[in-house]
Amino acid sequence: MLGNFSYCNPTKLYFGKGAVKYLKDELPKYGKNVALVYGGGSVKRNGIYDEVVKILAECGKNVAEIAGVMPNPTLEKLYEGMEIARKNNTEFILAVGGGSVCDYAKALAVSVNCEEDPWEKYYLRFEEPSCKTLPVGCVLTMVGTGSEMNAGAVITNRATKLKIGHVFADEKVMPVFSVLDPAYTLTLPHYQMVAGIYDIFNHICEQYFSGEDDNTSDYIAEGLMRSLLHSSRMANKDMNDYEARSNIMWTATWALNTLISRGKTTDWEVHMLGQAVGAHTDATHGMTLSAVSLAYYRHIMPYGLKKFVRFAQNVWGVDPAGKTDEEVANEGLAALEGWMRELGLAMNITELGADEGMIEAIADSTLIMQGGYRVLTRDEVVKILKESL
Ligand code: NZQ
Ligand code: ZN
Repeated sequence: MLGNFSYCNPTKLYFGKGAVKYLKDELPKYGKNVALVYGGGSVKRNGIYDEVVKILAECGKNVAEIAGVMPNPTLEKLYEGMEIARKNNTEFILAVGGGSVCDYAKALAVSVNCEEDPWEKYYLRFEEPSCKTLPVGCVLTMVGTGSEMNAGAVITNRATKLKIGHVFADEKVMPVFSVLDPAYTLTLPHYQMVAGIYDIFNHICEQYFSGEDDNTSDYIAEGLMRSLLHSSRMANKDMNDYEARSNIMWTATWALNTLISRGKTTDWEVHMLGQAVGAHTDATHGMTLSAVSLAYYRHIMPYGLKKFVRFAQNVWGVDPAGKTDEEVANEGLAALEGWMRELGLAMNITELGADEGMIEAIADSTLIMQGGYRVLTRDEVVKILKESL
């Protein structure tokens, strides 16, 4: 393993059908005043809201609702939630929804008791909380982000067209518990399911495509990718395949709960490109990643050729016999493309609402990361975005 690290993940998980009942064990551990955070209404339509509210009542909680958290939650919505939470002396935040709702709950948790502006402090200066962070629990309804077991919180500032994720170092920002019931994800539309699947895959890639060594994290990453390919094909054929959906849910959690980044520098440039596209189009997160991925990976492949060869062989089963390294690596990326098309992912940013005239502005919103095989110049960002049109 490269370098030294510490590892701690305090999130307790309850996995499986009916796991929501464990809220009864967890909720009594926290304060009486609960902020119940949810999205645009899916939880009301599929009955999850009713189940959760019933348990909150049984546990004798005073509930203040923060409803309507949108996909790609905005700074304005965060300010609104801070006001509600302060007015109700919130002691505990329960997020019921997807990554947007869970991320939002964490952003709220570090902002309620903070006197400074959260955007300035956490998203521009990337500081850690210096005030009391409220505990957050999650009931996950959409699979992909890994937000249920990490300290990431992505917020969009619509005024400045910046979508920024802060992965807090402070473990107190991680959910204290998360309820993962695969059955809760069965009402997701196909578009969201496959967007989530690609989000998972790309989280693994972002941590895999870095470094030169033979790292345990890379072997775990390959196993997760292979499991995801298998389950995603089953779920794509039959969205009600519980086994496939449950494996996808579990893979998502392990893809981004800090485990496979240990001992690695990690890349995250696809996410920076995708988030910039998202800031300008408000498109679905996983689709913004799929739309820029192939142009990006084909661009950086020569700089990390050895790893792309390994990816082709170990993840896609490419036979290297009689082929150059470039041919093997290209075959791996072609197999990736084939799988992406099979799932029906967005393959370019035009279909997400971007056009040539927006490229410079999207490039301005793209943060440049240092940990991958190539530190991009601005011209390279523009080139990749144009190739993604
Ligand atoms: O708002 P509702 O009505 O609930 O509808 C949601 C939303 O429209 C719907 N949905 C969720 N569960 C459902 C459902 N519809 C039917 N049945 C269900 N069971 O799905 C839509 C998308 O939900 P959202 O939470 O936005 O999706 P996702 O989980 O992909 O989260 C995306 C956000 O997470 C951030 C993204 O940038 C984006 O803002 N990320 C967070 C990360 C982290 N914490 O580490 C890492 C990721 O890379 C990502 O950046
Ligand atoms: Zn992601």
